[in-house]
Amino acid sequence: MQIQSNLVGGFLYVAEMAAIACARSIGHGKRKHSDHLAVEAMRKAMDRLPMDGTIVIGEGERDEAPMLFIGEKVGLGPAYEAIDIAVDPLEGTNLCATGAPNAIAVMAAAEKGGLLHAPDLYMEKLVVAASAKGKVSLDYPVEKNLSIIAETAGRKVEDLTVVVLDRPRHEKLIGEIRAAGARIQLIGDGDLSAAISVAVSGTGIHAVMGIGGAPEGVLSAAALKCLNGEIQGRLHTAENTATKEKAEAMGVDFNRIYFTDDLAPGEKIIFSACGVTDGSLLKGVRFFGDGIRATSLIMTYSPRVIRFIDSVHVEEGENVLVRF
Ligand code: FBP
Repeated sequence: MQIQSNLVGGFLYVAEMAAIACARSIGHGKRKHSDHLAVEAMRKAMDRLPMDGTIVIGEGERDEAPMLFIGEKVGLGPAYEAIDIAVDPLEGTNLCATGAPNAIAVMAAAEKGGLLHAPDLYMEKLVVAASAKGKVSLDYPVEKNLSIIAETAGRKVEDLTVVVLDRPRHEKLIGEIRAAGARIQLIGDGDLSAAISVAVSGTGIHAVMGIGGAPEGVLSAAALKCLNGEIQGRLHTAENTATKEKAEAMGVDFNRIYFTDDLAPGEKIIFSACGVTDGSLLKGVRFFGDGIRATSLIMTYSPRVIRFIDSVHVEEGENVLVRF
């Protein structure tokens, strides 16, 4: 329980600092630079926190990432509780670089072993809200899953919106969703923000389907566990990810369906996200001269508390006017 009480405010601060840093570069067309700004700010903010943190999902292996690499130690050190941390300092680097919606800064933490150490792979995902939890399956045909999601939500399949990453690999999936009659929102990037939105009523998103990043899948699981939603994932390799042999050596089973609790088995989960660009879930960072406004989501699993936070960071001046 110590993790939650000491670190909730700290993790909110970490996500805010990452989002604010990269938000200065929205629309500049430099995705790597935007990512670098977020990573640097997140790394700096983390080191002020009372924790003995280890990055288990980060910017990559030690030799390819100068900061927030897998295995890196963060926080004030061994005098504090040991925790595992998953980060995505800028989820949707292209979204930030082009000023498109739904770029967010994200981190999750749990007790040791509380987050799956997913190697850099792809993951076939099915994300649903609480009503369809335990009823759908990645093994079912798309049409069957859609009809279960619709029935459990008390609406018609035609009234569902499914988010799918706009990739050639999804041509067949898109055809199947259209044939079933559901609506589709094709996104350029950012299936993590979409996954969280599925479990938040009122966002207008009812499912995420298709293949995206496995690290984003683990972060989604941490969020969905707090929100009582569900992710099912099956791991895949691709040319630009870890090889099948390396992944198998790490214990990955390519035939298995990983459920929310397999991806995020922790009990002491904390998840924080801050909007970079405006999105369906969170507003983006707004700069107003003397200050900065940031909107965040910070959640704990035990106790299950979900907080939407609207922060104003006053930069300078005694007479700053804070607007509602
Ligand atoms: P980045 O933030 O690293 O650019 O990744 C964004 C993202 O769209 C994720 O949301 C998604 O899971 C993954 O990339 C999809 O990978 P790919 O672009 O290779 O299809």
